[in-house]
Amino acid sequence: MDKFVIIGGKKLAGNVKISGAKNAILPIMTAALLAKGKSVFHNVPHLNDIKMMAHVLRVLGARVEYENETLSIDTTHADYYEAPYELVSKMRASIYVLGPLLARCGKARVSFPGGCAIGTRPVDLHLKVMEALGAKIEIEHGYINAVCDHLKGAKIRFEKVSVGATANAIMVAVLADGVTDLHNVAKEPEIGNLIDCLILMGAKIDGRDTNHLQITGVDILLPIETEMMPDRIEAGTFLIAGAITGSRISISNCVPEHIQSLLDRLIQTGCKLNVEKKRIEIIPPSKILPVDIVTYPYPDFPTDLQAQFMALMSLSQGESRIEDTIFPDRLMHVAELNRLDANISLEKHVAVVSGVNSLSGAMVMATDLRASAALVLAGLAAKGKTTISRIYHIDRGYDKIENKLQKIGADIKRIKG
Ligand code: UD1
Repeated sequence: MDKFVIIGGKKLAGNVKISGAKNAILPIMTAALLAKGKSVFHNVPHLNDIKMMAHVLRVLGARVEYENETLSIDTTHADYYEAPYELVSKMRASIYVLGPLLARCGKARVSFPGGCAIGTRPVDLHLKVMEALGAKIEIEHGYINAVCDHLKGAKIRFEKVSVGATANAIMVAVLADGVTDLHNVAKEPEIGNLIDCLILMGAKIDGRDTNHLQITGVDILLPIETEMMPDRIEAGTFLIAGAITGSRISISNCVPEHIQSLLDRLIQTGCKLNVEKKRIEIIPPSKILPVDIVTYPYPDFPTDLQAQFMALMSLSQGESRIEDTIFPDRLMHVAELNRLDANISLEKHVAVVSGVNSLSGAMVMATDLRASAALVLAGLAAKGKTTISRIYHIDRGYDKIENKLQKIGADIKRIKG
């Protein structure tokens, strides 16, 4: 297993180009199943999660090719309808095939995704949507078996905002008969990107960026060629890299409004930001001020930046409180940050971060994708050498993070395992 070795304390300088958004492309890859033929997507980053989803689609019979950040998916012969345990267990987002398979084949057999390091993650909302549109669902031997002769539009109010269930609901409703009304949906920009792609394919969807979507089913969707939105979580991670190392850096190819909640908090820490249309420059203060955060669905502070912001707060001039209402147990990074001499304690689900003057390098272990990013950030700021093991987590969601960091002056190396 590969490791990162970081010699911390280096000032960073320069610009980082942000890659395409992992969480946008994953559902859009499965949406390609809804339109027989070859769809082409540009600005697709090299990530293990995307390779894994390509694998799932190949198992379903699709031809998937990937070159120079362009992904083409030919679903002409994607007639198989089972997503097996071996793949789904490795990536929870495989549940995104459920809606498209039902819409395309009238049936789907998808392994039940388990929990993961950030807590139990049920799929009840996904299943309720499918049932509301007329599917019969049985859970058997660890598999979700869904069948439906005729998908019919329905009115659904989500009891909880879920990105994944919203995406699956949209993907099944676009080919259902009649109108589907979805209330209390997720408004994350990745959902907006999915809606844009489906509209380009010929779907009828009203209400983008609101919490009420109205979808009128159509008979057929057509393949498309389009570009993926930039990754707002990668953008936020690099801005925090500037803040935590006290370095003036910029990021380009980003959409600043997608991370407005982070930008607001960074300003509260004392950072100055020069925000342009697709570029942000960060000018950190000499001393970072403490800021509390509570994660909520978009447009509030994202859970996927909670760990990275906690790394920053570990070096603030005071105490901050951090709570994740989306995944309350997403706190595995606390113990690892403390190994780097951070001072973080837990009061039930709230992390109380008492800022320290400096972190010091140590051997730590990545526990999940965003926790690994937090450890890289802390390692960049820590004195001496930090070794991070199990970095396969970070390769799931960051396109060659070490190369991008090296280009702006970080001392980070990948040691092949
Ligand atoms: C997506 C993102 C993930 C991000 C999360 C929240 C992808 C591939 N992943 O995950 O990076 O951290 O959104 O922004 O885009 N829930 C239920 N029942 C369900 C589904 C969800 O109770 O059927 C709960 C979850 O446990 C969680 C909350 O709803 O507490 C939100 O989860 P959800 O938005 O569904 O997350 P994902 O789509 O899995």
